[in-house]
Amino acid sequence: MKTDNEISLVLEEIEVQGYEKVVYITEKNSQLKSIICIHNTTLGPALGGLRIYPYSNFDEALADVLRLSEGMTYKSALAETGLGGGKSVIILDPRYKTNQILKAFGKAINHLSGSYICAEDVNCSVEDIDLIGQHTSHVVGLSHNKSSGNPALFTAWGTFRGIQAVLQSLDNSNSVEGKTIAIQGLGSVGSILADFLFWHGAHLIVTDLDPVRAERIGRKYGAKIVDPKDIISQKCDVFSPCAMGGVINQNSLSSLNCRAIAGCANNQLASPQDAMQLKKNQILYAPDFVISAGGIINVSIELNKEGYNPIRAHEKTHRIYDILLQLFQIAEKNQISTHDAAIALANYRLQYKIGKRKDPISYFETFQPC
Ligand code: NAI
Repeated sequence: MKTDNEISLVLEEIEVQGYEKVVYITEKNSQLKSIICIHNTTLGPALGGLRIYPYSNFDEALADVLRLSEGMTYKSALAETGLGGGKSVIILDPRYKTNQILKAFGKAINHLSGSYICAEDVNCSVEDIDLIGQHTSHVVGLSHNKSSGNPALFTAWGTFRGIQAVLQSLDNSNSVEGKTIAIQGLGSVGSILADFLFWHGAHLIVTDLDPVRAERIGRKYGAKIVDPKDIISQKCDVFSPCAMGGVINQNSLSSLNCRAIAGCANNQLASPQDAMQLKKNQILYAPDFVISAGGIINVSIELNKEGYNPIRAHEKTHRIYDILLQLFQIAEKNQISTHDAAIALANYRLQYKIGKRKDPISYFETFQPC
């Protein structure tokens, strides 16, 4: 037990193969129940958001944080942030979030000595990060003017660039003008993405579990509003998942009526094999951990010696387009899914760093799926 004034943290390490460190954290006064997961720090300290979610049990939370943290390793490797992959969850209905819980969580981060750096994720706001930041320095995305603030704008821009990349690959033109894009989820990222798409001339189909959000965007942009259960089957050029994970699965695959999938939601595929099925169905998939990297790119710039620079963050986020086009070519050339191509390239970067591979450029001539 680690005691710290009025809070008494209990940190219990869980062995999980393939992961550097997984810690279950509880604190009895605040009733904090949390897991911090460090997947891989080969490329740098593990940066990843805090998700606050009412998981029905510990195993569900563990499965989520394991998968999310692994995705962060690949995301950072491909976006070249100089960071590793990690993630954290607090098992809680976000309506019952308290300052005490966030304080205890902030103190817990300190016990990982900087190997985990916390940022925002679902149900964790900039204000929450500010509060956590009062108790640990291992946090990014704060609201003060030297920090990068809310990453959603950059995530949305990267997602917009990803939609342009899938259109470029399919139509030899990256214009969204006149194209129909179906957005699932109009929260921090989805609502900004709707802005970008509207102003570039796209037709929108939208949905959200919260009807007020759907109504607001629907009215603002003359978008077609559909019931959440119907969004998958809408005929569109691009389906853009911007809500929760697992949306592409054995049930939904046959309902899809789009030419491409390009959205910011983490863990869109229920299983990696679903990516191959998408390829067989001739649906171009922009791997979630590539297209959604704008947020991590933005917060990673904050860790640069020179400090946060929005212009640098924009330039790097803009390049998501080029990374995706490269991955589409690799997948096509090797007849593998775009998801497998992205994982192979990320693993290549990790192996290059630990000296197992030589010149990263030669990768494109000598590609072997791992
Ligand atoms: P958010 O919590 O602000 O918005 C999510 C929205 O999706 C909410 O409005 C919610 O009502 C809606 N929603 C949830 N389930 C739904 C369903 N089944 N059908 C329709 N709508 C549904 O979250 P945020 O920040 O916009 O993130 C969205 C996704 O993007 C998440 O998966 C997140 O992990 C991922 N992401 C977010 C980043 C960021 O910068 N905020 C960075 C990278 C990934």
